[in-house]
This record gives sequence, structure tokens and C-alpha cells, in this order.
Amino acid sequence: MLELVVQRRVQEAEDIISLDFTSALEESLPAFEPGAHTDLHLPNGLIRQYSLCRPGESPSSGRYTITVQCARESRGGSMYVHEQLTVGSRVHASEPRNLFELLPAARKHLLLAGGIGITPLICMRQALALRQQDFELHYFCRSRARAAFGDLRRSAPPAQSPHLRLDGGADILVAELLKRPDTDTHIYVCGPSGFMDCVLTTASEHGWPSANVHKEFFAADSSHLVADRLFEVQIASTGRRSEIPVGASVFEVLEQAGLDIPVSCEQGICGTCVTQLLDGIPDHRDQCLTDAEKATNKCLTPCCSRAHSKLLVLDL
Ligand code: FES
Repeated sequence: MLELVVQRRVQEAEDIISLDFTSALEESLPAFEPGAHTDLHLPNGLIRQYSLCRPGESPSSGRYTITVQCARESRGGSMYVHEQLTVGSRVHASEPRNLFELLPAARKHLLLAGGIGITPLICMRQALALRQQDFELHYFCRSRARAAFGDLRRSAPPAQSPHLRLDGGADILVAELLKRPDTDTHIYVCGPSGFMDCVLTTASEHGWPSANVHKEFFAADSSHLVADRLFEVQIASTGRRSEIPVGASVFEVLEQAGLDIPVSCEQGICGTCVTQLLDGIPDHRDQCLTDAEKATNKCLTPCCSRAHSKLLVLDL
């Protein structure tokens, strides 16, 4: 666990701030690759994932920057960051982890950001510009007032500047951008679920290979909650079985039974809780396992995933 202190707080845009952290212990901070995030352990007990974005600096400069939008439907994380974290505030954070890696070998990178989904992509943009690789960054935003990183947009050379898309009609623009599938181009997308659906569906309809489409969600998909039903889990090492009722997660039931499963986001986004599965068919509801990993049925995220079979046997 890292101990960080806020060195700088900047109002990036309407409802969006950036915070620069350094080590509170004056140690060097672990380096990270574009797309990485850290789990911020907030003093109010919440743990939230924030992408590390450091436009204009190198990833090894000993400083972490996060950019946070105060969510209207905040569950307490972004609201706390906005209201309580000021210069001098201390927080704990995990070492960076990367579930959204940039593939350096691709000939071209197409970065598609919806709203605050810009945060991992602005870091990718910085790395690609430094490496002089071919890329385009399209930043879909509701208004200029809500568009972050204005300084960077104004100072970047035109060829590297994010294309700010303010004019609505994201579906039409996305369809235009993705109309010609190219196996040498990789797409990276991050944003709210409606935007993600638009990009992922359009890419699929136009025949983009799924291996060329990389995605990071920052909110859980709740579209399947109506299909919940009771099932059982069995702990392989003890044989003990527990019922998982509608409305409770595998993690919650097993925690009450005294099992210690590490969790962080509890929304299927971060991958902290991934657990090996020995038998049964999971109903994967996370956004962190790849389609290939899900297809093996060898692991699941007990914080949110459920079961298609009546029983899941966990390697615990
Ligand atoms: Fe984050 Fe389960 S705790 S995916």
C-alpha cells in the first residue's frame, strides 16, 4: 500500500478536478503503463479505482495524477474526493494495476473517450505521442464546459490534439470512424455505458475483430438484474455449501460465513476478487475478465457474478 499526499488540486472543467499526488513518505512511486489505475482507499472507508493520467509528464516522474468527475449518482467516492481532498490531504492507494493495456505493436490506435472516460486515454495519447506512433483521440463530451484537459488540447500539435466532439450524434460519428475495419488498427474505448454500447455494437456490426477492441468500463452494467435467481456455492477445500439468494452476492454470503475474499470495487470492474472455479457455469457480470477468460468458465468475480448452473464449486 502506498501513502500519498495531495500536492496540487486543479479545477479541470465543470464538476471535474485533477489531483496530483506524491509519496507522503518521500519515496519514489512505482512506474505505470498507460491504462493503469490505482485503488484509492478513502478515509471514509470507500475504495475507488481511478485511472492514472499524467498529461505532459513522463510516467516515471514520481507523481500520480487522477482526474475525478463528481458523479450526480455518486455512491460516496467521487463526492468525497471533491469535497474533502485538498492540498496536504493524505490517502492510501494500491500500487498501479493495468487491465487496459496499450498494444505497442499496433500500426494505429484509435482512442474513443466518452466524458470522464478520457482519463486512461489521455495517458495513452501522451505515450503514443512520445513514441511518435500513429493515433487519433476522439473525445465525446456534452459541452466545452465539461471537457477536461483544455490546456493540453490547446497546446498539443494539431496532429496529436484530441478531436473534441461536442455536437451530439455520437452514434453517427462513431459509425463514420469505424466504417472500415482494419486488422492493423486497435480501438480503445472508455466512457459511460451508453457510449460503450454504441462503440462496441458499431465495431461488431462493421466486422472489427474483437481482439482489436479494448474497453474499460467505469460503472457496472446493471441491465441483467431482473434475471437473478437463487443458487449454491461450494467451497472446494471444506465441502461447505452456501445458498446465494437474490439480492446478495457470492462475496457477501461467503464473507458472512467467515471467508476472506479480497474485494475493491464490488462492481466487477477492478478484478481484485477474481476466484478460480472448479465446477459449474457462471453468469459473468463483470467488465474486467476478457471474453476468452469468461468462455473458459475457469474463474469468476464473486463480487457481482452469479450462476447459470445450480451449483458453483470455488477453488477456496
Ligand atoms: Fe472489483 Fe470484484 S471487487 S471485480
